[in-house]
Amino acid sequence: MKIIHEREKCIGCGACVALCPKHWEMSEDGKATLLGSTVDPKTKNYLLEVKKIDCHEEAAESCPVQIIQIIK
Ligand code: F3S
Repeated sequence: MKIIHEREKCIGCGACVALCPKHWEMSEDGKATLLGSTVDPKTKNYLLEVKKIDCHEEAAESCPVQIIQIIK
């Protein structure tokens, strides 16, 4: 499955980092970064293939602007 982060729309709330610090961290620009992800130059979204959903589910559910998507 795939995790998609629409990073440009991130408001830096930090919920994803608080709930899933293993895979998310706050960056100096005040937005969250999905660790290990790569950017799609067309959409500017960050993508990561994962085998296990892990705490990404909690991160996605907690994001107030709903910019973390999980494609199963
Ligand atoms: Fe950004 Fe949503 Fe995380 S606003 S900091 S991706 S909870």
